[in-house]
Amino acid sequence: MFCLRVPTGPEWARAAALDLDAVLVDHAHCEMKAASNAMSLVVRHPGDMHLVRELAELAREEMDHFVRVVAILAERGLVLGPPPVDTYAAELRRRVAEVSRAASLPVIVDRLLVGALIEARSCERFKLLLAALPDDAPADMRALYTELFAAEARHYRAYVELAVRVAGESRRAEVEARLEVVAEQEGKVVEALARTEVRATIHG
Ligand SMILES: [Fe+2]
Ligand SMILES: [Fe+2]
Repeated sequence: MFCLRVPTGPEWARAAALDLDAVLVDHAHCEMKAASNAMSLVVRHPGDMHLVRELAELAREEMDHFVRVVAILAERGLVLGPPPVDTYAAELRRRVAEVSRAASLPVIVDRLLVGALIEARSCERFKLLLAALPDDAPADMRALYTELFAAEARHYRAYVELAVRVAGESRRAEVEARLEVVAEQEGKVVEALARTEVRATIHG
């Protein structure tokens, strides 16, 4: 799917379907992080109004997702709780930073491309989760994941296009090559996590 190098194994969807409460709690945190990550990019790049507006819109959409997942948590009598350790995103950022980038490509390109990969992986997993949901799963959950699958696919493309725009359209090929590097590292993170422990988390 998209640029993903390593497909999620079937054991992930099985683990997720067995513990939907854990998936929902983790998912709520993912949406909150997606919103705050978009806004942190706005804080660092206030001079680029196209970027500011696109990312603010994206953050608003992620907050809407967060509010909806939190409503499902409340219906199920769950609490949000403290954020789990996000090994996936931390490892992805660390690995990408280690692969040298053309000095002329702005640093923000990497942050946008990492954002793109996180969206792509969420999108893939929402689709797998939808297929694995038990027959008695609440209708609102099914509707939410159907909608989010499409939204995260759109966010993936939005982040890639923002990266191209920041670098300059004439450097699209370079940004796309960098996207391949980020995708390769993301695949390694997913493989490493699957080897250690398959957890009922969106990116675990
Ligand atoms: Fe989202
Ligand atoms: Fe998203």
